[in-house]
Amino acid sequence: MKFRILFPVLLIACLSLPAQTSTPPPALTEYQGRVIAQTMHWQGAGWLIRHKRDREESTLLMREELKLKPGMTVCDMGSGNGYHTLPMAEAVGKEGKVYAVEIQPEMIEMLKSRAAVKNITNIESIIGDPYDPMLPAGSCDLILLVDVYHEFAYPEQMLTGMRKALKPDGVIVMVEYRAEDDSVPIKPEHKMSKNQINKELTRNGFKLVREFDGLPWQHMMFFGRVN
Ligand SMILES: C[S@@+](CC[C@H](N)C(=O)[O-])C[C@H]1O[C@@H](n2cnc3c(N)ncnc32)[C@H](O)[C@@H]1O
Repeated sequence: MKFRILFPVLLIACLSLPAQTSTPPPALTEYQGRVIAQTMHWQGAGWLIRHKRDREESTLLMREELKLKPGMTVCDMGSGNGYHTLPMAEAVGKEGKVYAVEIQPEMIEMLKSRAAVKNITNIESIIGDPYDPMLPAGSCDLILLVDVYHEFAYPEQMLTGMRKALKPDGVIVMVEYRAEDDSVPIKPEHKMSKNQINKELTRNGFKLVREFDGLPWQHMMFFGRVN
């Protein structure tokens, strides 16, 4: 008799407890011998859309190398104010989609305004967590990271999340300023060497599938899932 009364009471009490949330580990300042860079603040976003960017970084050539096709679902990870997102959305067309993932909502607001001016409607913006890209599982043909990965305070968690978000043949594309080249006018912690990129990606379930060495300042490395 006592049990009959107590059981529903206990059940209701348990159901009304807050769901257990997993607290992320502390943010890293170093990973695999590399100093992690500070996040570029949204107030500096004007630099990302400077007129001479294509001349300096051959951004058109970089995007051609992505070989985007109409109907693809792709992601611009750490999209900033959408310098690459907008042309990517045009390349995949109305049947395709671009996820723009950002941890700074101000960047997403700027991106949305820029997309609205051009009447681009196939961008889905996502405010990510520093440790979770918040992308749907198995959704992406390609995830582009331009000058972003070196800022991740949770590289392993982000790589795990992006790996889950890729389709089986999907790739992530790392575009990082060359650490091996002193003539690239960028602070050291915002650069990465090929060896370092390879080391970090291969220990997190990725394999190098292609490289493009024709950019003036950056490495461009394509990684697929190991399985
Ligand atoms: C140097 S900006 C590059 C922006 C853009 N990819 C471009 O090339 O114009 C780096 C961006 O990555 C974003 N970022 C850093 N960590 C992130 C994370 N864990 N998830 C999503 N975005 C992140 C920052 O907020 C910043 O806007």
